[in-house]
Amino acid sequence: MEDTQSTFPTVEVTRRTVIETGTTALLLSSLPRGALAAGADQAEPSAVPIELRVNGLLHHLTLDPRTTLLDALREHLELAGSKKGCDHGQCGACTVLVEGRRINSCLTLAVMHDGQSITTIEGLASGSDLHPMQAAFVEHDGFQCGYCTSGQICSAVGMLAESREGMPSNVTTDLTQRSIKLSDDEIRERMSGNICRCAAYPSIVAAIKQAMGEQI
Ligand code: FES
Ligand code: FES
Repeated sequence: MEDTQSTFPTVEVTRRTVIETGTTALLLSSLPRGALAAGADQAEPSAVPIELRVNGLLHHLTLDPRTTLLDALREHLELAGSKKGCDHGQCGACTVLVEGRRINSCLTLAVMHDGQSITTIEGLASGSDLHPMQAAFVEHDGFQCGYCTSGQICSAVGMLAESREGMPSNVTTDLTQRSIKLSDDEIRERMSGNICRCAAYPSIVAAIKQAMGEQI
């Protein structure tokens, strides 16, 4: 008698193969149409020419469009004062000023700022004269290891401009003020996006209050 069993492949079904094949099928079915044909050799995005005015100097760059502003500053312009702490928008070490507004440079792409003006910690001083916020941080020991400090200082400069323009925070009680006077609570709240692992917070608040008094 003919052995019909030999015409069919024998597959040993185990929990492992179910999970493996099921996972593969799920992945394949979720891919966009054509993705399989495009395959792994899909081309890298073309580099894009942009202009950034950084600390008053115009720079012409040609960048992979996926380059963050932080990497453009640090890796392409060799301005390493802005620090990469988390690279995820959680620590504030990468804070710079874009058109005067503070921003986490790790969370934004350089190409989004084509033609804009950027100020980093390297651009705050005037020659050998420290910016008043820098001088206040030195005077009040607003740092220990210093890793967060450039972000703290840029953030503080942007924060004072925001309060002068009447921009409220979560702890502002009077929303009708045109220029908000900053209490310690206001300063802490507004600077809460800048983390200091050395916990130099009391000195940072003291430094900001001094700089604030100098009406920078
Ligand atoms: Fe950008 Fe931490 S490095 S927020
Ligand atoms: Fe060390 Fe702030 S001074 S992390």
